Amino acid sequence: MNAFKKHVIDIQNEAFSLVAKVNTEEALNELEIRFLGRKSEFTALLKSLKDLSAKDRQTVGPLVNAVKQELLKAFAEAYQKIKLASVDWEKERLDVTAPGVKLPEGHLHILTQVQREIEDIFTSMGFDIVSGPEVETEFYNFNALNVPDNHPARDMQDTFWVKTKEGEEKLLLRTQTSAVQVRYMEKHTPPFQAIVIGKVFRNEATDTTHEFMFNQFEALMVGEDINVGNLKYIAQEFFSRFFKTEVKIRLRPSFFPFVEPGFEFDISCLSCGGEKGCSACRYQGWLELGGAGMVNQNVFVNAGYERNQYQGLAWGFGTERLAMMKYSIPDIRLFPAGDTRFLSQF
Ligand code: PHE
Repeated sequence: MNAFKKHVIDIQNEAFSLVAKVNTEEALNELEIRFLGRKSEFTALLKSLKDLSAKDRQTVGPLVNAVKQELLKAFAEAYQKIKLASVDWEKERLDVTAPGVKLPEGHLHILTQVQREIEDIFTSMGFDIVSGPEVETEFYNFNALNVPDNHPARDMQDTFWVKTKEGEEKLLLRTQTSAVQVRYMEKHTPPFQAIVIGKVFRNEATDTTHEFMFNQFEALMVGEDINVGNLKYIAQEFFSRFFKTEVKIRLRPSFFPFVEPGFEFDISCLSCGGEKGCSACRYQGWLELGGAGMVNQNVFVNAGYERNQYQGLAWGFGTERLAMMKYSIPDIRLFPAGDTRFLSQF
């Protein structure tokens, strides 16, 4: 048995002294195969353990296993040493004084910027900024605004209806910010002035000037002696501040059930100055901003006011249209598209 033990120790010593001398991975690999490989002397010794008597196996078994662990450890350490020796420490050095890389920063969407600008101008004129739900009841979007069931004016605004249960109040995606008018009137007593900016939805085909989702900003001013002159003045004041230049205004007679008289509100095209016409104004020279008018007394009655107690002005303009004019944006569909090539320009 002593000879067996000596043999094992010899192998270990030889392996240790050779491992200590190698300094390349290949050489180490070869040594590992030679000492621990399938055909190595050591593996043969391990295999021969089973031919020993139980008693002999008890004395040499632990030794052989301990040596095997020692050898494995020695090789692992040698690999690690060779790996570390090949590191180019100069290259790996971390320059803690180097300036950091600036992270790219996002910015507000062009429509949010325009919305804030509109809000700033109206706030400075004493208007409240108010909002309402985008999923709205049929009542506030239509009936309260003097658009009864089956009124042909409903066809002006193709509506996305929300599925509701039989007998429940009908819900829809609001087609106009005017839906906030009666909501606001129910909670406030004139005189007051407020604007609503927000998304509206129309179930219609899209083109360069139409989207099925867009933004409107609604003005509502109610008091005892509000008239069309106030409407023109406030609009004129707003547009010249928003565009920082004088803008021509045009009111054309029009019909909306919730105003009387009602107007279609146009401003001169800023891209072409209104003279020649261009693609932004569809060669009209004027840009249609939306509807306006004096609040119909029926709407006041629906809000709980007395008929003829107050007069009010209202308008609902397209926010995108304003942005398109101000920044010469040719297609309304660019706003919701999420294309950063477009968005990063503002
Ligand atoms: N709500 C109308 C629309 O969406 C616009 C409008 C608002 C008209 C206020 C008159 C008064 O077209």
